[in-house]
Amino acid sequence: MATEQTEQTEQTDPEQADKPSESEERKNGVTPQVSDELAANMKQGWADTERRDLAPVAQAEHTARRRAALSARFPGERLVIPAGRLKTRSNDTDYPFRAAVEYAYLTGNQTEDGVLVLEPRPAGAEGGGHDATLYLLPRSNRENGEFWLSGQGELWVGRRDSLAEAEQLYGIPCADVRELPDILRKATGPVRVVRSHDATIEAALNDKVTAERDEEFRTVLSEMRLVKDEFEIAELTRACESTVRGFEDVVRVLDRAQATSERYIEGTFFLRARVEGNDVGYGTIAAAGPHATTLHWVRNDGPVRPGDLLLLDAGVETTELYTADVTRTLPVSGRFTDLQRRVYDAVYEAQEAGLAAVKPGAKYRDFHEAAQRVLTEHLVAWGLVEGPVERVLELGLQRRWTLHGTGHMLGMDVHDCAAARREAYVEGTLEPGMCLTVEPGLYFQPDDTTVPEEYRGIGVRIEDDVLVTADGNVNLSAALPRRSEDVEAWMAELLAG
Ligand code: GLY
Ligand code: MN
Ligand code: MN
Repeated sequence: MATEQTEQTEQTDPEQADKPSESEERKNGVTPQVSDELAANMKQGWADTERRDLAPVAQAEHTARRRAALSARFPGERLVIPAGRLKTRSNDTDYPFRAAVEYAYLTGNQTEDGVLVLEPRPAGAEGGGHDATLYLLPRSNRENGEFWLSGQGELWVGRRDSLAEAEQLYGIPCADVRELPDILRKATGPVRVVRSHDATIEAALNDKVTAERDEEFRTVLSEMRLVKDEFEIAELTRACESTVRGFEDVVRVLDRAQATSERYIEGTFFLRARVEGNDVGYGTIAAAGPHATTLHWVRNDGPVRPGDLLLLDAGVETTELYTADVTRTLPVSGRFTDLQRRVYDAVYEAQEAGLAAVKPGAKYRDFHEAAQRVLTEHLVAWGLVEGPVERVLELGLQRRWTLHGTGHMLGMDVHDCAAARREAYVEGTLEPGMCLTVEPGLYFQPDDTTVPEEYRGIGVRIEDDVLVTADGNVNLSAALPRRSEDVEAWMAELLAG
């Protein structure tokens, strides 16, 4: 795709000498050479497409409440939350943009270069608190040619919301983000910024912020998301529903995967994710045979063989950026062998024990410990490690085969709320509205000479997404069967259909 920009060299028309925005310079580098006639022609003949009376986005009332909660935590401080910028993939192509979760959570907007600023009201102002402004790139200027000559011009990247439209959609006053670095440079008083998303904004705040205070800010933003609100729970439910359909899609094409590779499985699930959601929430793990013992197998370039197990760990991310994280381990031929079933059923039993421990008031660690105990009991019973079980657990010897923790918080990040303090998360207590995965597994590496040969190369994980409720939990991914015989019956039905 040749672009207007790459064919051109220098700016010659003084009428176009308006200084390009920083984002344009970054993207573009040069301004194309055009005739005066063409420049004049391109300025006119465009209809007014401004949209009026737009309804607010579905989560506008939730984002307003979240901003109010954040405001209450940092009285008198200016809070800066960038969406992030496009990242170059190679030369002049970028990675698909995904807004920073803190920004999307507080605004409902997902536009690159956006920045939310919460400015403290003057001391003594009624109600205290902050005034929010959403800084965005406005519609492209047609007078100076920006809309068709700049790499970020709407002719190239598509129509943006005008600032007035964005105000209606997100319920936040909007302003031109190109003015923000200057505003921030001149600002006085304490400031905090979410780091690592926007170098321009951070540079403008360079002498006003400290790493320690910004880390505290990030921690608060992470902990705010531990308990999901009604909108988020609906999104996570939707993510799981799409994910269930994606798993069904995969089972239906297992014969084609056998004729090609694990990639066919990855691609099949991806189609569902892109059509119903925004993307996959993380790199799909389509691990057949011994690849199932590699926890983050995302190369997905191996064969899918009859008789092997397929460990599929995949999640659809919704358009509002909430992801599922589900694993099923399926017999490629539709029936488990005796040994596969033995390992599978042990993992199932461990997951049942883990699920039973997810309830309000339980310690976060409880479900992990419950699942580890069951797995260890089986490992001892099979003679793979010498008991008693208490000793194995105390020394952690089972971990050679259980490998990972039994779950994590889930939300806009697959490993959500990762900046939360230990006491709020891993050493904390479960509360209604928390959403987490329960995902025990057993993995016997193909070169593990400490187990009998027949175990080697078997990897099993079962992973579900669970919402803590007032009196226990709800399994959001329960529509996918988990018991070995139910998995076989479900596969048979899909393969026959
Ligand atoms: N899919 C990554 C995980 O299960 O944590
Ligand atoms: Mn997980
Ligand atoms: Mn997973």
